[in-house]
Amino acid sequence: MSLADAAPEPGNGPARRLSDVLMRHPRLLLALLLAPPLAWLGIAYLGSLAALLAQSFFSVHANHREDAYGGDAAGRGRFLLETLAAVREVWPEHLPLTARFGVIEYDGRDEQTLAESIALTRQMREGGLDLLNVSVGFSTPDAKIPWGSAFLAPIAERVKREAGIAVASSWGIDDPHAAERVVADGQMDLVMVGRALLANPHWPYHAARELDVARPSWVLPAPYAHWLERYQVQRAA
Ligand SMILES: Cc1cc2nc3c(=O)[nH]c(=O)nc-3n(C[C@H](O)[C@H](O)[C@H](O)COP(=O)(O)O)c2cc1C
Repeated sequence: MSLADAAPEPGNGPARRLSDVLMRHPRLLLALLLAPPLAWLGIAYLGSLAALLAQSFFSVHANHREDAYGGDAAGRGRFLLETLAAVREVWPEHLPLTARFGVIEYDGRDEQTLAESIALTRQMREGGLDLLNVSVGFSTPDAKIPWGSAFLAPIAERVKREAGIAVASSWGIDDPHAAERVVADGQMDLVMVGRALLANPHWPYHAARELDVARPSWVLPAPYAHWLERYQVQRAA
């Protein structure tokens, strides 16, 4: 079964409690739990881009429901909170639980969207979320997104401060110095790198060199670091 089958139907179809749906469909719950970030022993249970599901509930552009899952910010946030509660119930307490959430649309309604997003993030933190991956809603073609290096850093910093939660973010953080700065300045706790890693899978190694990290090879897996250092010593001899 797909997420679309399990989710409350679009429009004004009958909405069921998401936690009930998840409990009745263990394979869906398993799919949520085996999301790719599991590799670093965390879990991103909602995607703002590919999954789009939770974001479409929160967005005033996408959600036109008139039932308990639409309307005001509480209604539009219900799906996210119920998903979090269902996952939290089965996710081990000692492992980090993260969510990606488009907290802003750049649609001219930004203060209101941010205030609603931050209030919801506070509730998610109280519901057991450990870190929010701050992103853009991308739910309207009329958005005027201020593309630029680390443009989400001030937004992430505000969410961190006002919601009291650890934050990560991506979008245009491909310069090692920018990545270092946003963490050193306390705007983010973690930097996410996407396309720069596609372009260069050894981006962390090159970034470590550019930032004059002592023994930069050791950001790589230990066997790589060992053989790379030996290779460089031999080449230099
Ligand atoms: C091939 C590819 C697949 C992606 N898939 C997802 C996804 O499934 N869910 C998601 O939230 N973001 C996805 N993204 C967006 C990235 O997580 C990231 O936010 C975006 O690339 C911006 O960061 P960057 O400027 O470092 O590339 C994807 C990006 C790329 C290039």
